[in-house]
Amino acid sequence: MKKRIAIFASGSGSNAQKIMEHFKNNEEAEVTLVLTNNPEAYVLQRADNFEIPTHIFDRSEFRDTDEIVSLLRNLEIDLIVLAGFLWLIPKNLIEAFPNRIINIHPSLLPAYGGKGMYGDHVHKSVLSNKETESGITIHYVNEHFDDGEIIYQGRFKIEPTDDLEMVKFKGQQLEHTHFPRVVENLLKKMK
Ligand code: GAR
Repeated sequence: MKKRIAIFASGSGSNAQKIMEHFKNNEEAEVTLVLTNNPEAYVLQRADNFEIPTHIFDRSEFRDTDEIVSLLRNLEIDLIVLAGFLWLIPKNLIEAFPNRIINIHPSLLPAYGGKGMYGDHVHKSVLSNKETESGITIHYVNEHFDDGEIIYQGRFKIEPTDDLEMVKFKGQQLEHTHFPRVVENLLKKMK
């Protein structure tokens, strides 16, 4: 049976798009479901384009019930991928999918991680500290923000002339190149 991926995303979903493209005609795995807390998220449109079902939830469903755990279990999800998902993952979900939830973060963790450090906030802090390099981290998810075991890090140089858009672009290029590949490698190692 094909391995089954669920993607959580809160916004645009460009990383989700790359993963959906990567597994579109894949023999080994598929994206089974896309979940979001944001009914306006563009990722919903992207999922529709691939004819992948979606599920929209609110904070109380996510934090106070087992509905999402049940949904993911019923669909026999093997791997949960957080691709620009901004809420902390509750304990029941982490316990139900041990070592099966991964996240991507736009910095070289542990630098520029933690609550409030997401998207442009990360790149702006990196630039204001005049860093000469930054990067991306793909890691396992635990109950703290940006804290689980690191699976992959990729780096890029920051030139003195680089602005927010350029740093963001360099980070995004790395994310789009490596995230689908890392997901595929993890799935191959799973029984
Ligand atoms: C990505 O850059 C991802 O690393 C970041 O959100 C962006 C989502 O972009 N995630 C975090 O900051 C998590 N703390 P996308 O919606 O275009 O994939």
